[in-house]
Amino acid sequence: MIVLGIETSCDETAASVVESGRRVCSHVVWSQIAEHQPFGGVVPEIASRAHVEAVYPVIREAMDQAQAKWADVSLMAVTAGPGLASSLLIGLTAARALAWRAQLPLTAVNHLAGHVYSFLLDTTVPDPGPETPVVVLLATGGHTLLARMDGVDAMTVLGQTLDDAAGEALDKGATLMGLGYPGGPAIEAVAREGDPARFSFPRGLQGAGRATNGMYPRERCFSFSGLKTSLRYLLRDEPALMGNADLAASYQEAVFDALVDRLERASIEEHVRHFACVGGVARNLRFRAKLDEMAARVGVTGYLAPPAYCTDNAAMIAGLAGARALLGLPVLPVGDVQPNAPLM
Ligand code: KG4
Ligand code: ZN
Repeated sequence: MIVLGIETSCDETAASVVESGRRVCSHVVWSQIAEHQPFGGVVPEIASRAHVEAVYPVIREAMDQAQAKWADVSLMAVTAGPGLASSLLIGLTAARALAWRAQLPLTAVNHLAGHVYSFLLDTTVPDPGPETPVVVLLATGGHTLLARMDGVDAMTVLGQTLDDAAGEALDKGATLMGLGYPGGPAIEAVAREGDPARFSFPRGLQGAGRATNGMYPRERCFSFSGLKTSLRYLLRDEPALMGNADLAASYQEAVFDALVDRLERASIEEHVRHFACVGGVARNLRFRAKLDEMAARVGVTGYLAPPAYCTDNAAMIAGLAGARALLGLPVLPVGDVQPNAPLM
C-alpha cells in the first residue's frame, strides 16, 4: 500500500511517499521561510504563489527519491484543512489533477489529524488501540490541543488553547524580543546560553473549573496571551533586555511548563501508559528534555515525534491516509478546502 501525500496548508510545500502507513520512502519539504522573513510572518498571497511554483517539482522529487512509478501508487492524499484557504487550494487542485490523470483514488486528510499521527512515523512505536490509548499534545504555530488517541481512527479532543497557540506565543515573543521569524527556533538558539529561572512569567491557566468557552475542563486548556503581554510590559520598562539570553530562556520555559503541566495531568487522569508530543514546537530540544523528564517522573512512555515530522510535512498526511486505508476505512471525499476544520 503505497500512498503519495501532498501538503500545502501554510508556508511549506511538501510531498511524500509512504508505504503501509509507516515506512517513509521519501519526504520532501520546500520551505518558504526566506520569502516571508522580511514581513515577520506568513503572507498568504506570497505563500500561495510560492506553492504554485513549487508543488509539481516537489511531487516529482518525492516520486524520484522514493524510486516510485505511478503504477506503484495505490492512493493519493491531500491536506484539505485547516490552514490558509489560498494555500490549501493549490495542493488540492494539483492533487485532483494528478489523481485524475493517474486514475488514482484521492482522499482528503485533516492537517491536525496528520500532526497527531506523526509520532507513528517512528516505526518502533507500537500502534495505539483501545487497550493502549495515547494522550497526544499537539503544539504548532496555529493550534495547541490535547487529544486522546484510541486508534488511528479514534482521536478525541480533550482540551485546547483559549487564545494563542504555543508556537504563536513563541513567534510573537521572538518578534517582541527582536529575534526574528520563525520565533521558536530563534528563541531556542538564544536561550541555549540563558538561565530559564531568572525571569518569572505567568504559567497560563491555573486551577480547576470549566474553561471560559465551556467546552473543555479548564485544567485541559491552555492560555498564552497573558504571557506575551507580560513580556511586552517587561521590555517596555527594560528595553535593554532585547535579545537577552536569560529572557529568551525564561520565556520559552513558561510556554513549555504550561504544556508539560497539562500533558502530565491528562496522562494521569486518562490512566494512559503512553503520551505523545507532536507539532513544530516539539522540535525544541529543551522542551523534549522536559518531556522526557516528566515521562520518567510519572512512569509513562513518551513518544516524541521524529524532529523531521514535527514541522509541517506530507509524510504525516500520506502516513495517516495509508493507515486508514489498511484498516479498510473509506476514502474521504475531497470537497472544498476547509480553512477552519477542527481535528477530525
Ligand atoms: O507544525 P508547524 O510547522 O506549523 C503549523 O501547523 O503551525 O509549527 C510551526 C511552529 C512555529 O510557531 C515555530 O516557531 C514552531 O513551530 N517551532 C519551534 C521550533 N521549530 C519550529 N518552536 C520551538 N522550538 C523549535 N525548534
Ligand atoms: Zn501544521
